[in-house]
Amino acid sequence: MGENDRGEFRRNRRLRWTPGMRNLWRETRLEVDSLMYPLFAVHGSGVREPISAMPGLEHLSVDELRREVVELAELGVRSILLFGVPAHKDPLSSEAYDPDGIVQRAVRAVKEEVPDMVVATDVCLCQYNPAGHCGIVRDGVILNDETLPLLAKTAVSHAAAGADLVAPSDMMDGRVKMIRAALDERGFEHVPVMSYAVKYASAFYGPFREAAHSSPRFGDRRSHQMDPPNRREAIREAKSDLEEGADVIMVKPAMAYLDIIRDLRERFDAPLAAYQVSGEYSMIKAAGRMGWLDERAAVLESLVGLRRAGADVIITYFAKEVARWAREGIL
Ligand code: PBG
Repeated sequence: MGENDRGEFRRNRRLRWTPGMRNLWRETRLEVDSLMYPLFAVHGSGVREPISAMPGLEHLSVDELRREVVELAELGVRSILLFGVPAHKDPLSSEAYDPDGIVQRAVRAVKEEVPDMVVATDVCLCQYNPAGHCGIVRDGVILNDETLPLLAKTAVSHAAAGADLVAPSDMMDGRVKMIRAALDERGFEHVPVMSYAVKYASAFYGPFREAAHSSPRFGDRRSHQMDPPNRREAIREAKSDLEEGADVIMVKPAMAYLDIIRDLRERFDAPLAAYQVSGEYSMIKAAGRMGWLDERAAVLESLVGLRRAGADVIITYFAKEVARWAREGIL
């Protein structure tokens, strides 16, 4: 082991001595082109309100969002994932599928400002109802089948506003099938579904719930999101979403689920996305700010690790910063 046939040890360090050599033999590369940047749209104008649990990120009103996407495009960020914080919440989550809802307005504005920005939208109800749940709630139960038509309506309204991709994150069973059928029926057969196929019930979503005002009022999301200890179940979830018509499957969160990313990469040939979620972002940010680690190095290491695990695309709140570093030749 480690010896050649003359009984000498192998000099693995030969390919590591200089930056040039390391760069040449690098097996995995990180490119801004494969990063997608999440953004949070709010009503109003002139709003740029910092999200305290996610330093460096802000709630943006639609006018500010226009400025933001122009800046992103200049930096080389070519795709975004939009979330909306609605003006009001009701039990049927009506703003989720309102043609004039916050996400729909945001999509139209972004596509107007930067037509070739790839705009994905998060399809879920949790921001839009007072219970803060991903589906319709009756007697304390999150209903599955009753929720599906509302998700389909939401996805269609996003496509009608000009979304390039719809990304259901609700984890109701059968939603990909329902959304696909609804899109096709309305003439949006060209709009792909990026399904949050493998989404675990994770503590790492904590900061996002402040960002999206989507904390559940009661209970948790464990009746629909996956149980973190499960690995084989991820294969079943991905398989059923692909059978239902998903074009892209996603694993979320990312860092604690690298084995799952690798499993899906090896098992399926579908494009695979990994979502480095809010808690993963905030942990690195917090430790960086405390001076406990080198933030930039930690960010790049965390992202290249996801690519190495097998992710084609990474959804990350660091995308804008990474694009800046790429500009400076640091990647
Ligand atoms: C909505 C949704 C969530 C996230 C993305 N879409 C929150 C949740 O499921 O509780 C989390 C994103 C993040 O933490 O960055 N269902």
